[in-house]
Amino acid sequence: MSELNNIALKIIGNGKGILAADESTGTMTKRLQSVNVESSSENRLKFRHTLFSSKSMKTCIGGVILYDETIKQEFNSKKIPELIINTGAIPGIKVDTGTKTLANSPEEKITEGLDGLRDRLKNYYKIGARFAKWRGVYLISNSCPSKIAISTNAHALARYSALVQEAGMVPIVEPEVLMDGNHSAEVCLDKTSEVIKKCFEELILQKVDLKGVILKPNMILPGSRSDQKISSDEIAELTVKCLIENVPTEVPGIAFLSGGQTEVEATKNLNAINKINKSNFIMSYSYGRALQQSALKYWSKNLDDIEGTQKVFNHRADMCSLASKGKWTEQVEKN
Ligand code: G3H
Repeated sequence: MSELNNIALKIIGNGKGILAADESTGTMTKRLQSVNVESSSENRLKFRHTLFSSKSMKTCIGGVILYDETIKQEFNSKKIPELIINTGAIPGIKVDTGTKTLANSPEEKITEGLDGLRDRLKNYYKIGARFAKWRGVYLISNSCPSKIAISTNAHALARYSALVQEAGMVPIVEPEVLMDGNHSAEVCLDKTSEVIKKCFEELILQKVDLKGVILKPNMILPGSRSDQKISSDEIAELTVKCLIENVPTEVPGIAFLSGGQTEVEATKNLNAINKINKSNFIMSYSYGRALQQSALKYWSKNLDDIEGTQKVFNHRADMCSLASKGKWTEQVEKN
């Protein structure tokens, strides 16, 4: 089992974090259409390969989460997982199959993908994956997240984690409490705490080795439609409080999702978290949009400008890496 702990530390230790490039074809199509690029399999690969062959892969990225399409693709006859391994990063795979309406709570979602998961994992391991991701989503409203959503999603996350460890891989446990809504940061703290606590109860019940797990939570923020304005320092304080109170100390690390924050917000908040983090948890990043947004926008202007796109991506990755050590400043952001 210490092998899993080693993998987890390699992914998020030493100022490294995760590039979440596991958008499903539907989500990636939305991202590409938003910058007027056709969502063909070639274009999806071309953009992703541009990121995977960037210089910062060696210094800032410990793991890349891939989607089923990408992990099976090749670029110039090189398999994508092989290409990632050659940079020193570890290939990972999103294994949930998306969300569906939760029975008896139609406002909420349950994540699917457990049927046949054991066999899919064996195959992903064979082609190079050493970690996996499963995302549960929770909405905040007057009656949500409901007890049903909290317990069914925790149960699924734990069953997934047990199977992933059985297959020799590290599970990324992602219970995402969405930013949507007009709730305050204090409500986000309460709800996120309840969600994370329940996830670990289920993981423990299902005998998951917590030393071989990475938690991927949201930061504690006011809802995106709330009028509340709070500073990065306050966000950091609430976020660290939530994690210290609800995450068992055996867990080696935490890799936040960006969840709709801008690139700079996600960086600044992570930096503030690391400035006050006195816990044993590594606090790093597993960003999708907050690592890719500017690079995608730049690339969309000229799909052949690989070097320019990589420069934009390298800057973002460098900023996130500095933030994971509490060493980011407004000044370095501008340079
Ligand atoms: O599951 C969510 C993604 O892996 C992270 O994406 O950073 O854009 O929220 P995000």
